[in-house]
Amino acid sequence: MIIAVDGPTASGKGTIAKQLASHFDIPHLDTGLLYRAVGHQVILNGGDPDNERDAVAACDFPAALLDDAVLRSETTGSLASRVSVHPAVRQALFDRQRSFATQSNGAVLDGRDIGTIIAPDADVKLFITASVQERARRRWLEMTDRGIEVQLTEVEADIAKRDARDINRSDAPLKAAVDAFVIDTTSFNREEAFETVLETVQTAL
Ligand code: C5P
Repeated sequence: MIIAVDGPTASGKGTIAKQLASHFDIPHLDTGLLYRAVGHQVILNGGDPDNERDAVAACDFPAALLDDAVLRSETTGSLASRVSVHPAVRQALFDRQRSFATQSNGAVLDGRDIGTIIAPDADVKLFITASVQERARRRWLEMTDRGIEVQLTEVEADIAKRDARDINRSDAPLKAAVDAFVIDTTSFNREEAFETVLETVQTAL
């Protein structure tokens, strides 16, 4: 069983993907981490994330980098969004994601192009979304909880910028697959969101 979970930043798709993997006892791949690792490695290499050649050279990052806490930062998220516009970077990360998606015991993958490009044959495709304001509020709460001082308006502007970059890039833009179930979690708490998702998945299987 392959479950594809796509959606914009801070939509809750990562948490939902994790919950699904644990519920069905199958492995989970957060594909955003791969792009984050590339973004981080470009900087370690002294390269420019907007330069395709520098970004491709960074796709050779050491596997251990995927454990690094710095990958979760907003700065790295922004770098990831910049390197992910390069088609050659997406190509370099394709096989890794594809082979994860085709392992025999099933998988949950979350990202931006799982249902459209990486696993177009997934058994269930979900597109998790929420309003920009609500996603900014959630991200701001999360950052504030971690002791990071930041203005809500700043977080909202950054999310809007990342959305625009992900939606408007020519290669593998962020969009729901035609056969995806679109779930808007704006008015849901975590439990309600997962309940709706699980119901949708169980009905679809
Ligand atoms: O999901 P996350 O916020 O960690 O992703 C970071 C960035 O990586 C996204 O803003 C997006 O630009 C890029 N990404 C992508 N395709 C994926 C996963 C992430 O382009 N499958």
